[in-house]
Amino acid sequence: MQKIMVAHDGSKSSDKALKKGLELAIKFNSSLTVISVVPELYLTELSEVDRKKIADSLSEETAHAMEKIRKSLSGKTIEVKTVIRQGDPAEKILETAQKMKVDLIITGSHGRHGAKKFLLGSISSKIVDYSRCPVLVVK
Ligand SMILES: Nc1ncnc2c1ncn2[C@@H]1O[C@H](COP(=O)(O)OP(=O)(O)O)[C@@H](O)[C@H]1O
Ligand SMILES: [Mg+2]
Repeated sequence: MQKIMVAHDGSKSSDKALKKGLELAIKFNSSLTVISVVPELYLTELSEVDRKKIADSLSEETAHAMEKIRKSLSGKTIEVKTVIRQGDPAEKILETAQKMKVDLIITGSHGRHGAKKFLLGSISSKIVDYSRCPVLVVK
């Protein structure tokens, strides 16, 4: 297993996924890519200016979180990469995983604002459904 990808959205659940990803990457001497996708906003009732403000602050927040992750992993023996994409999260994660030819995608079972009544979050379940490589959902 050469390449492991962890999908991170800033949630506790994705922190667990990252922990598992790190553990496996060290065990198998794999490279570890952490990806976070800034979702597009479809809030049509907002003005263009407001939409841009929110999008910018979301991007900034994501960049900050990924930088923190990159720093926390910098002392590890494995190769670590952080990637930020913009758009539909599941689509971008799947597309990047395929392009990078990763061997395993790891996600959390839930995200930041999802409804707990669902057994699996909407993004992770889409990844499980459409991924061409193995997926590990961390609970
Ligand atoms: N924007 C995102 N970027 C990267 N990974 C994400 C993103 N959104 C969700 N994920 C991944 O999917 C997991 C489940 O989240 P999600 O399916 O969005 O659940 P919920 O519906 O509860 O928000 C997260 O723990 C994370 O691993
Ligand atoms: Mg979510």
